[in-house]
Amino acid sequence: MISTTFLLLGLALCLHVAECTPKTTPLDSIVFSALNCRKHSAVLTDFGGVGDGKTSNTKAFTSAINKLSGLASDGGAMLIVPPGKWLTGSFNLTSHFTLYIHKDAVLLGSQDESEWPNIDVLPSYGREINFPGGRLSSLIFGTNLTDVVVTGGNGTIDGQGANWWKKYRNKELNVSRPFLIEIMYSNQVQISNLTLINSPSWNVHPIYSSDVVIQGMTILAPTDSPNTDGINPDSCTNIRIEDCYIVSGDDCIAVKSGWDRYGLKVGMPTQQLVIRRLTCISPDSATIALGSEMSGGIQDVRIEDITAIKTQSGVRIKTAVGRGGFVRDIYVRRMIMKTMKYVFWMTGSYRLHPDPSFDPKALPEITRINYRDMVAENVTYAARLEGISNDPFTGICISNVTITLTETPKKLQWNCTNVEGVTSNVTPSPVCDMLPEKKHVECPFPEDRLPIEDVKLKSCSIASNI
Ligand SMILES: *[C@@H]1O[C@H](CO)[C@@H](O)[C@H](O)[C@H]1NC(C)=O
Ligand SMILES: *[C@@H]1O[C@H](CO)[C@@H](O)[C@H](O)[C@H]1NC(C)=O
Ligand SMILES: *[C@@H]1O[C@H](CO)[C@@H](O)[C@H](O)[C@H]1NC(C)=O
Ligand SMILES: *[C@@H]1O[C@H](CO)[C@@H](O)[C@H](O)[C@H]1NC(C)=O
Ligand SMILES: *[C@@H]1O[C@H](CO)[C@@H](O)[C@H](O)[C@H]1NC(C)=O
Ligand SMILES: *[C@@H]1O[C@H](CO)[C@@H](O)[C@H](O)[C@H]1NC(C)=O
Ligand SMILES: *[C@@H]1O[C@H](CO)[C@@H](O)[C@H](O)[C@H]1NC(C)=O
Ligand SMILES: *[C@@H]1O[C@H](CO)[C@@H](O)[C@H](O)[C@H]1NC(C)=O
Repeated sequence: MISTTFLLLGLALCLHVAECTPKTTPLDSIVFSALNCRKHSAVLTDFGGVGDGKTSNTKAFTSAINKLSGLASDGGAMLIVPPGKWLTGSFNLTSHFTLYIHKDAVLLGSQDESEWPNIDVLPSYGREINFPGGRLSSLIFGTNLTDVVVTGGNGTIDGQGANWWKKYRNKELNVSRPFLIEIMYSNQVQISNLTLINSPSWNVHPIYSSDVVIQGMTILAPTDSPNTDGINPDSCTNIRIEDCYIVSGDDCIAVKSGWDRYGLKVGMPTQQLVIRRLTCISPDSATIALGSEMSGGIQDVRIEDITAIKTQSGVRIKTAVGRGGFVRDIYVRRMIMKTMKYVFWMTGSYRLHPDPSFDPKALPEITRINYRDMVAENVTYAARLEGISNDPFTGICISNVTITLTETPKKLQWNCTNVEGVTSNVTPSPVCDMLPEKKHVECPFPEDRLPIEDVKLKSCSIASNI
């Protein structure tokens, strides 16, 4: 569907650039899918952007988005980042807005720390542990927004993180490292069809938001880079993450909801979350971690069609005494895992805390965790399931799982403490008294659909001369 308005606006943009009027080549049209199409559009160069990889475009982005925010109530606007290398510091998004990164465009994260404003710490985290200077804004940041899209024809955002990783390792930072994309207190959010590389820290962090679609993301970071988590849905409701390929130095996806007294006080769970068709490579971390910051609660998570290669663990639960909160009603099916340290891993003693004096009575509730229909090859340990004494993890169900061990497998394949549940049709046969084998059990996976699964993207298009 090509909207005439878009065509006209595309031409209008073209017409005010003198050399483009007698164009010999036909206009390329950009076609993409989005929650909403926009009536207006502009190109970064209209606001003084320079794509030479050296000139800072922070001001160009800021003035473009400030200007376009005025069109929010008139059909919204889209900012196109055209082919080129666009060095920039942090900038803020607006509502009813689309940032479109062309397939031949690369955003480069500025190496100048003054281009990254210091912003408030997150209330559900309370403080930046080890960083008294606070936290820096993400490269692309948005807060209190409605209807915001960050997409592209697989265009690239390069965080140029190497310098940040070095400073972090040398303990030269007094602020926490920025993320690439963070959206807070927002609804109707789409992040799609982009390649994110070399993030200083986490890549994509939606927090305190609802109705979020993240799809078609390629996220790449060296597997030894510190804390380069792929996607971290945090205190979000109704969220769908699909068709992503992630290679990272930390968890490919880490589902969170704040920690200890700060997370408990904010009390916003991550819930109604779908994760599907993910491929993950993360030798020292999880394919999908639930926690360790989970004090606001994590519930109703549906995970399916996941491939993990050379990854430390599959869907891992991380928590600790002091967290409180819950992880419950987690459903996982159809995972293929190749070269794994652990297939199943749950940890009840994850040591990190924001305050040394956490509440020992704040016990997390971990229950109704379901895994089914999985194949894992070249596995070092089948399972390490460590609950909390006087606070066992209950309702664990594992069915129809085939595991092939490495040539030199460890002796203790199922290391179970303080867990309760059942296994069925798992080979080789588990040796874990706390998860006795029952015949013909199929662990549940809900048949209903979550509201976010019915959110359809519209086909948007714009004629452009870029
Ligand atoms: C973006 O918005 C936040 C919160 O309002 C603010 O603290 C920050 O300075 C803004 N960033 C820029 C680059 O203007
Ligand atoms: C952080 O470090 C910078 C210089 O690296 C210094 O100017 C600033 O005062 C420090 N802030 C805090 C809170 O330590
Ligand atoms: C953003 O929304 C939060 C939560 O509703 C609110 O506490 C905060 O004041 C809002 N911030 C702005 C800048 O409107
Ligand atoms: C996007 O780009 C990345 C990096 O070049 C590439 O690996 C990936 O296959 C591309 N994805 C699509 C859907 O074209
Ligand atoms: C965006 O990615 C999806 C896969 O996630 C793909 O089906 C779609 O064609 C892509 N769209 C564009 C415009 O690249
Ligand atoms: C067991 O899991 C495999 C995938 O690993 C699937 O093909 C098969 O249908 C499942 N069997 C049952 C009985 O669900
Ligand atoms: C199996 O896993 C080991 C690590 O445990 C690894 O060194 C080896 O390359 C893997 N083999 C295959 C065939 O992937
Ligand atoms: C079994 O698990 C416990 C708790 O995670 C751990 O302390 C212990 O080292 C494990 N034992 C082996 C042999 O891996």
